Amino acid sequence: MIRLDLLPRLTVAPLRRRVAAASAGLLIVAFSLMAGHADAQVDTGMRGVALVTGSTDGLGREVALRLGGAGYHIIVHGRNEERGRAVVEEIVSHEGSASLIIADLGSMAQVRALAAQVLRDYDRLDILVNNAGIGRGADTSIRSESEEGYELRFAVNYLSHFYLTHTLLPLLRESAPARIVSVTSTAQNPIDFENVMLEREYDGARAYGQSKLAQIMMTIDLAQELEGSGVTINAVHPAVYMATSMVLNRGGTPFTTIDEGADPVLQVITSPLAESGHYYRQAQRSPPQEQALDAQARRQLRELARRLTGLN
Ligand SMILES: NC(=O)c1ccc[n+]([C@@H]2O[C@H](COP(=O)([O-])OP(=O)(O)OC[C@H]3O[C@@H](n4cnc5c(N)ncnc54)[C@H](OP(=O)(O)O)[C@@H]3O)[C@@H](O)[C@H]2O)c1
Repeated sequence: MIRLDLLPRLTVAPLRRRVAAASAGLLIVAFSLMAGHADAQVDTGMRGVALVTGSTDGLGREVALRLGGAGYHIIVHGRNEERGRAVVEEIVSHEGSASLIIADLGSMAQVRALAAQVLRDYDRLDILVNNAGIGRGADTSIRSESEEGYELRFAVNYLSHFYLTHTLLPLLRESAPARIVSVTSTAQNPIDFENVMLEREYDGARAYGQSKLAQIMMTIDLAQELEGSGVTINAVHPAVYMATSMVLNRGGTPFTTIDEGADPVLQVITSPLAESGHYYRQAQRSPPQEQALDAQARRQLRELARRLTGLN
């Protein structure tokens, strides 16, 4: 059970923020189902604002619903507008507040637009959950690429969140105490810097595993940078083989429920005891795959990510 009394104490005056109009032709749309139509004013709520990437489905949806129920304004994100609207509606139907941003994290243009939209439309961000992700795939021999030609799992699971997190840092710092949690996995593969895009010997499980280790490496790096800022960052493995689309769509047999995965994620977000820069295997602080502890490998990855995402 999540103890909602452990949610960070955020003394946020009710805010009224403008949510941008959805307009035809835009890749990113945001709207308020609370007000019932686009281009409306929404009350962003009591405790603060939380962005949960990939909250149209699975674990992210559950985390969004729970944070919404705890009084946060939720920025729901994903690609599927119908499912996204349904999540917003559900939060609103429980007296919550939410808006939706549609953006494909397999396109850096859309990632940039997502970050820009959050910076433009919100004057605080208290919680960022880097959750959106794609698994190893039904056929692990099929290699896919992002719009920019990067290996797709590396791009969606890691590069997009690298850019998003760094770009939203000023807002998170202003909103401190603030929390960043990246949803990672026990599946962690070391990165071969000579073959990051896995153009040789492609394997979907390895692609997934290196993207998940990269998230942990970002966590350790950023925790050092954010020391003393009131912004903490951690990475959490939720549960093994939850009953989500990621597992079910490739014919996998679930071992755990979505609730079981959401519990540790919420614990790390809400615990006043959570330090920064750690990998939690469910609720247990655990050592990550050893490459994550190699400062030189982290520097190499960080420089690569900066170059590939065009982050200044
Ligand atoms: N399932 C497990 O057992 C398990 C275990 C360990 C870790 N995890 C991690 O938990 C997180 C959530 O996974 P899940 O099992 O809940 O998967 P899921 O049910 O498939 O949900 C994935 C979410 O990510 C979004 N997403 C996927 N690709 C995207 C893209 N290109 N652009 C934008 N959004 C995208 C999806 O939104 P749309 O469908 O709207 O695009 C959806 O909301 C992932 O990071 C995963 O690696 C899962």
